[in-house]
Amino acid sequence: MFKKLNILDEKDPHLRRISKDASLPLSKEYKDIIKQIITELTYSQIEEYEKKYELRPGMGLAFPQLGINERIIVIVHEYEEGKFKNYVFINPKITSYSDEMLAAEAGEGCLSVNRDVEGHIKRHARVTVEGYDEDGNKIKVRAREELSIAFQHEIDHLNGILFYDRIDKNKPFFSEDEIRLI
Ligand code: NI
Repeated sequence: MFKKLNILDEKDPHLRRISKDASLPLSKEYKDIIKQIITELTYSQIEEYEKKYELRPGMGLAFPQLGINERIIVIVHEYEEGKFKNYVFINPKITSYSDEMLAAEAGEGCLSVNRDVEGHIKRHARVTVEGYDEDGNKIKVRAREELSIAFQHEIDHLNGILFYDRIDKNKPFFSEDEIRLI
């Protein structure tokens, strides 16, 4: 049985806190929440289920969005049409990043932000992220393009930052000459 997550809105104070490291290995309760997040994020990216369960499409979620201020992020990346790869990172850290920046042309969205916020957000084109899996094993990923954006967006949540905080109010949009838009 599919049960929808209760995702907090941007106004909730949990979204603005600096989250603490999660202790490892994770509890069964947390592992179950992660499974639920993976199901919901995957369904939200498949039209049939998105409609059936009235989901907003999204590829990532961080624990603070569920009211748990611990450093856990989940990303479900559709790397090819209909093919998904899951990334579960506990206590993630960006250990290196490219100088090259890019931005999502259509802007970013967030499952906690139930309105359109327009503007380009400068992100590193590539990041290396290190952290732990649910059992406490060290893991590492090199992410590029939209996956790199997703990691930066989700890690921001662990530090109380929402994507629109990073939109320059004086210059919300960039041209292709100024930054690579994807
Ligand atoms: Ni978000």
